Amino acid sequence: ARFDLIISNGVVITAEDLGQYDIGIKDGKIVKVVAKGSLKGAESKRVIDAQGGYVMPGGVDAHVHLEEPPLFGKGSTADNFETGTRSAVCGGTTTVIAFAPQPKTEDSLLDVLKETHLKAKDNCYSDYSFHLLVGNPSEKALGEFATLREEGISSLKIYMTYEALRLNDSQILDVLLEARKQGITTMVHTENDDIINWMTKQLENRKLFDPKYHATSHPAVAEFEAAYRAICLSEFIDVPILIVHVSSPVAVKHIREAQSRGLPIYAETCPQYLFLTKKDLDKPGFEGAKCICSPPPRDGPEDQEGIWIGLIDGTFTVISSDHCPFRFDDSVNGKKTVLNEEYPNGRFKYIPNGCPGVETRLSLTLNADRLELKRFVELTSTNVAKLYGLHPQKGALVPEVSDADIVIWYPPGEMEEFELDNSMLHHNVDYSPYEGRKFAQWPRFTIIRGEVVWDRDGEGLVGKKGFGKFLKRASSSLAGSRQGGEWDINEF
Ligand code: URP
Ligand code: ZN
Ligand code: ZN
Ligand code: ZN
Repeated sequence: ARFDLIISNGVVITAEDLGQYDIGIKDGKIVKVVAKGSLKGAESKRVIDAQGGYVMPGGVDAHVHLEEPPLFGKGSTADNFETGTRSAVCGGTTTVIAFAPQPKTEDSLLDVLKETHLKAKDNCYSDYSFHLLVGNPSEKALGEFATLREEGISSLKIYMTYEALRLNDSQILDVLLEARKQGITTMVHTENDDIINWMTKQLENRKLFDPKYHATSHPAVAEFEAAYRAICLSEFIDVPILIVHVSSPVAVKHIREAQSRGLPIYAETCPQYLFLTKKDLDKPGFEGAKCICSPPPRDGPEDQEGIWIGLIDGTFTVISSDHCPFRFDDSVNGKKTVLNEEYPNGRFKYIPNGCPGVETRLSLTLNADRLELKRFVELTSTNVAKLYGLHPQKGALVPEVSDADIVIWYPPGEMEEFELDNSMLHHNVDYSPYEGRKFAQWPRFTIIRGEVVWDRDGEGLVGKKGFGKFLKRASSSLAGSRQGGEWDINEF
């Protein structure tokens, strides 16, 4: 046949354009994007009538924690590469970039990369790549950046907090300088570790252990001080960074100011900062633990609004899930891991930080109806692919160039509205922070390289574990170091 798949009658939306087009797919690639009706009668193995629904490049989620050891409090992440990518495709995401975490006790990044490849290989439903999480920037690790680039890894994450991972400023400078030489983008978790530890002690001295005090112990100032410091370190070395999971509108202001001076400062936010607040940590019993993440959801609607404004005005580059899954019932051999006799509901400081959300990221954001559709695609797919060196293979619908990764939504107003229940999701977590919320949109089809992997009105999950391929990535195609080349101390 001329085509393997035709998608007809859709409203096709990319970061640049919205129009009524038919799409022809062959051998896993987009081969035609032409005026609606033009492919009528063309020979194809399968035709999907989108019936006026939105047709977009598949979601790219560049912030997903899978199969990680205990790094953010007690307990390992609940999803592995199989269950995490399964959940992703059922929510319209076709590519995930997960972390390959280097603990402080390991000095080689290449060893960590090899181990992470073994975890992912033959297990993924979606296409995938890794960011190296640098917990120990040893001489050896820094010397491996060049090889990482040859292995298709063009991004790192570093932490300014968490005992197991935090780097001091001089270690951060070491990483940024080497990242600049190799054309690597560094993601930075910006929270001031000393403020958090000091606040935690203040609260514990007063016997304030409930989940809600997690938010008190991670105040906005801890985030925006560290964000500003990271911007300063990036400006000093002249290297691009992405500030991850931004929740504080003051941090957004620092980022916007830096961008207005032409600095390559990129920013990410996540649905938890658009749809949750501190109040969600103050539910009866231990329920608040379900919404503990770092940085925490902020005080109220005005903070959420500050994040929406940053999405609308272009300050934010990407929306990611920060899917960091832990089970609410985390019993091992009948014993809960965050409970003890002294505080049977678990002290907040032991509750692992992170919320599941890889499957709900796109639907939550689209349902909110706050973003122009092209901007929605840009933030959840196209910019992500550009920032992490996957564009235009991913995040675009360019004929003969882009993979046929597509999410098809329902025609507006046509889906039966439903209340989310965790049993509808495909992760290995026993809750969602968004249970009970109403959805008027959900991905109807998810397609990866021309193969339908999610068919909501058919058999649901139809993708296969192991179909997902590792993606070797190029450098970011967004603006990088202003001078280019190597940073030279003699310039001064
Ligand atoms: O609470 C969070 N975000 N946990 C995941 C770890 C991280 O910092 O991304
Ligand atoms: Zn090793
Ligand atoms: Zn983080
Ligand atoms: Zn994270």
